[in-house]
Amino acid sequence: MDKNITILAIETSCDETAMAILKAKKRADSFEFETLSNVVASQIDIHKKWGGVYPELASRAHLEAMIPVLEETLLPLGKNLKISPVSKHSQILNLIDCIAVTQEPGLIGSLLMGIETAQILGAIFKKTVIKVNHLEGHVYASFVHLNRKFSIPKTNIFPILALVVSGGHTSLILMQDHLEYQTVAQTIDDAAGEAFDKVARIIGLPYPGGPEIEKLAKKGNKNTYNLPIGLDRKKDFSFSGLKTAVLYLTKNPSTGRKKKYNRDDLAASFQKTVADTLIQKTKIAIGKHNPKTLILAGGVSANSYIRNRFSREFPHSTSKAKHPTLLISPKLLSTDNAVGIAVAGAIKILANR
Ligand code: KG4
Ligand code: ZN
Repeated sequence: MDKNITILAIETSCDETAMAILKAKKRADSFEFETLSNVVASQIDIHKKWGGVYPELASRAHLEAMIPVLEETLLPLGKNLKISPVSKHSQILNLIDCIAVTQEPGLIGSLLMGIETAQILGAIFKKTVIKVNHLEGHVYASFVHLNRKFSIPKTNIFPILALVVSGGHTSLILMQDHLEYQTVAQTIDDAAGEAFDKVARIIGLPYPGGPEIEKLAKKGNKNTYNLPIGLDRKKDFSFSGLKTAVLYLTKNPSTGRKKKYNRDDLAASFQKTVADTLIQKTKIAIGKHNPKTLILAGGVSANSYIRNRFSREFPHSTSKAKHPTLLISPKLLSTDNAVGIAVAGAIKILANR
């Protein structure tokens, strides 16, 4: 039996205040979605001068952005309604069936802003509030098409192996069914995005480092510097050795004196080594778990070089080579957003998870 819901999602786990509204429908073999709105208010300008996210400032900025972001998110839903200007937001909120919110992991003060907002709206408008894990949001963003309806099969896509590469995580997650999963490999120290941010700082680039390094790397030679792959040929990730290797190319470890290096070439060599590392560990996990679908998600998957390397390494299956089907989040949804949270939340409800 078809079941329809309209879901509002709120994501505030780090430095983005994000909300989205999606329509979701349960079909016999799939879940069908339509994105009605997707709003992200970034705090990058606030954190840039600190070289990273300053948690106290992040919570305050969420508080300031919450109502304007909510109002902008609600707009498309009220477009064709005859509504009174006085009660328009509450009339639109009454059209929502449920609210999904990121529960963890993330900065506690930032998470609380989103959770409190969801709970207050849920209490006032009598809507169910569903708590979603941030990594589930990244994974489900990979199925999304922003400008058209999209569907997610109920079966036939499992097992899914999802590589979530963000500022806080570098994890390979194995999903046997919707929202049933376990972590099969992860970083033992820095996350890949964190390594991008730290290396950017070492070579004098602003936060967030990923997009800045990507820009410089386009002008550089990726084979100039030979950098180490952490935990070579083991299943887990490690990026702290790579970061230290970059540091010691820029200054002498014993005297602290600056060394001469080419910034573009170093950015390109670093980015290539991160891609090599991610691909090596993913191949190990594919060999072990034989997934039908491979997902690349999280902020680092916004990187064009890494996206291209994955697409070349894991092309569609041919009669000769059997590969999992590769899904990569749309670039706009690689970094934090609420669309993925809405999709995960809707599946929780529609599949009774
Ligand atoms: O997923 P995300 O928005 O937030 C977390 O959940 O952490 O990821 C943010 C991370 C940052 O470390 C940022 O430097 C990295 O993603 N990032 C990139 C790119 N865009 C964002 N890393 C490499 N290349 C990019 N183009
Ligand atoms: Zn994230």
